[in-house]
Amino acid sequence: MKQTLLLLPGDGIGPEVVAQARRIAEALVPDVQIEEGLVGGASFDAHGTPLTDETLDRARKASAVLLGAVGGPRWTATARDKRPEAGLLALRKGLDVFANLRPAFCFPALVDASSLKKDRVEGLDLMIVRELTGGVYFGQPRGIDEEGGLRRGYDTAIYTHPEVERVARIAFDIARGRNGRVTSVEKSNVMESGLFWRQEVTLAHAELGAGVELAHMYADACAMELVRAPKQFDVILADNLFGDILSDAAAMLTGSIGMLPSASLGAPGTPGLYEPVHGSAPDIAGQGIANPCAAILSLEMALRWSLGKEKAADTLLAAVGKALDRGARTRDLGGDLSTRAMADAVLNAL
Ligand code: NAD
Ligand code: IPM
Ligand code: MN
Repeated sequence: MKQTLLLLPGDGIGPEVVAQARRIAEALVPDVQIEEGLVGGASFDAHGTPLTDETLDRARKASAVLLGAVGGPRWTATARDKRPEAGLLALRKGLDVFANLRPAFCFPALVDASSLKKDRVEGLDLMIVRELTGGVYFGQPRGIDEEGGLRRGYDTAIYTHPEVERVARIAFDIARGRNGRVTSVEKSNVMESGLFWRQEVTLAHAELGAGVELAHMYADACAMELVRAPKQFDVILADNLFGDILSDAAAMLTGSIGMLPSASLGAPGTPGLYEPVHGSAPDIAGQGIANPCAAILSLEMALRWSLGKEKAADTLLAAVGKALDRGARTRDLGGDLSTRAMADAVLNAL
């Protein structure tokens, strides 16, 4: 059966960067069948919901899903459950992609694009494994209401044993293919869910972590260490919220958030969801100047993790490196290439 890649371009710069990833997929893996669908604000505008049952169904049947970005000022007044971001969360939950892999590595050509000194980021290569379908993002109860005359807003940070164990297992497996070190982060000094996270990761390590060195760090200290000495990390294991925040910080170490891809994985044999770490960038949307590399590298991860095309993935990764070596730069990297011209540079280097 033919492999299918479902593209969900979404909003803002999403369609601009996904269009470039599509050109590269067509050139590199012509045997993969490419389909497109709507998600986020684009889906809300067309169907009144940010994720239709039909799109979720198509995503479940695809070999892999590549999403651009969702959201934008146009939908800030929309009801929360209809907002673009709700569509993305429903897609992650619907595909049960519980492990979000967010690599942060510094291409040699970009050491000077980082906000940190060259010696701090040269050779940087870390992987954040973020739990993606639980925690405070989904915990109940949550709401904004009034009790005893007091207006309040609240969320629930909650993790269960299987949720922590399955994502810890992935972090250990990934560490084994790297430098064998996992740093698990939480706030066990103040949060019960954080203490539980630490206990569960420790138990999982005893059972599943052979050959892996496990360390624990408070999430705030981790944020500090990420900008002080990022090369100390190999794999960072974090819950949904801390992983979200720490991965944005890690993104900037590499030069631009426009460079960083992610892979979200569920049970073996189920489709992975691939997306740039960046959002819809309303401030530059429609100008054709967004960096398409995060989307292109998300395609690279899809080739590697879902489509079993490791050689094509290696070729694509090398081509992005080569294009950067040759000086190809979008504006966020201090250059002046358009989104399309940046993708052309990658295509030429393939
Ligand atoms: P953002 O990532 O969209 O933008 C942050 C900054 O980075 C902006 O200055 C933007 O111009 C720049 N930037 C981002 N991607 C870039 C690229 N490829 N090339 C060049 N510059 C780039 O984050 P935000 O402004 O906080 O959020 C905007 C909207 O996107 C919100 O609605 C938010 O909810 C949504 N969002 C979606 C996702 C997603 O779909 N996965 C992720 C983050 C934010
Ligand atoms: C991300 C984004 C999303 C998140 C939003 C848009 C729902 O920030 O993918 O990092 O918080 O997970
Ligand atoms: Mn985020």
